[in-house]
Amino acid sequence: MTTTVQSNPPAIEVRDLVVRYGGGRRAMKTPPAVDGVCFDIAPGETLGLVGESGSGKSTIGKALLGLQPPTEGTIWLHGKDVTTASLKERRTLASELRVVFQDPYSSLNPARRIGQTLAESLRLIGIKGDAARARAITTLESVGLPSDSIDRFPSQFSGGQRQRIAIARALVRDPNVLVLDEPVSALDLSTQAQVLNLLADLRDEHKLAYLFIAHDLGVVRFLAHRVVVLYRGQVMESGPVEDVTSRPRHPYSVALTAAAPVPRPAEQIDRRAHREALSVGSASTAPPDPKGCPFASRCPLADGQCHAERPMLRLIGGQRVACHHAEQVGVTWPPPPN
Ligand SMILES: Nc1ncnc2c1ncn2[C@@H]1O[C@H](COP(=O)(O)OP(=O)(O)OP(=O)(O)O)[C@@H](O)[C@H]1O
Ligand code: SF4
Ligand SMILES: [Mg+2]
Repeated sequence: MTTTVQSNPPAIEVRDLVVRYGGGRRAMKTPPAVDGVCFDIAPGETLGLVGESGSGKSTIGKALLGLQPPTEGTIWLHGKDVTTASLKERRTLASELRVVFQDPYSSLNPARRIGQTLAESLRLIGIKGDAARARAITTLESVGLPSDSIDRFPSQFSGGQRQRIAIARALVRDPNVLVLDEPVSALDLSTQAQVLNLLADLRDEHKLAYLFIAHDLGVVRFLAHRVVVLYRGQVMESGPVEDVTSRPRHPYSVALTAAAPVPRPAEQIDRRAHREALSVGSASTAPPDPKGCPFASRCPLADGQCHAERPMLRLIGGQRVACHHAEQVGVTWPPPPN
């Protein structure tokens, strides 16, 4: 379980981020993958980013990493605007901001020994030879792997161990910020718990800022301090993770919370029945009405105002919520589970 992080100057600041794929007039006609997203992450803090498939989570991660240029908006890393950084500055920033992807099988080169993979990353910042080997061994040990892992190939490790290697590769250049894009989704439950504990320990020890992308609210609750709920590229709700998960104020967050897996099968069946009773439709590929709430076509509370007017984020308690009827959520809707 996480504790609140004191307010430090942010490691990452994202303001009004808009990302569109493709170019030209056709791209301008399709809704952006990310639409006006703002957040900060302090050193030592984890921000969870949740939302169903296609909501824009990885696109935000790619924009932070410089893999997808923002169409609009600004990203600051320790006060430096990365969106206007030169190629040379970008290389330095690439050491400060690293990524761990979901799939430890495809993200490691099967033909390279682990030591070569880590050394390659270190060579880019001028660390070579014995110094690189020593740094690689220390980093592997810090993620709970033996020093002789350095001479082995990825196929000689389990899924959980490979994800530890991917974390070591991200850490070996001593970054400040990690983008963790579904880092435990491909692992079984007990391995997930070990890797999440490792990530929490590393974060606390090195004061790392994490952008933690996940489908599963359970794992977000374990690692994150705050959470942003994304729908079709827009922030629906954000706030302290305990508040958003135990007292969601946006109908979409309610649906996500009801869909979150729980370890007990009987409770899972009750949850599923409750989610069906919420009458929140499934994801639609139709473009949202540009004037109204992006969730209106699925929302049981939608009325004329919701279709006519896009709700802005507003502060309710400690949460920011983009919903005209957020005051009703948890009071007159949804119906209690049977
Ligand atoms: N390279 C690309 N070119 C064009 N469109 C893309 C590209 N990558 C993603 N998209 C679109 O951008 C939107 C957001 O995709 P993104 O991968 O960020 O979602 P996600 O929330 O990470 O989904 P998932 O949970 O499935 O990983 C989707 O509509 C997707 O189809
Ligand atoms: S603004 Fe209206 S449609 Fe959108 S989530 Fe709130 S109640 Fe539902
Ligand atoms: Mg993704």
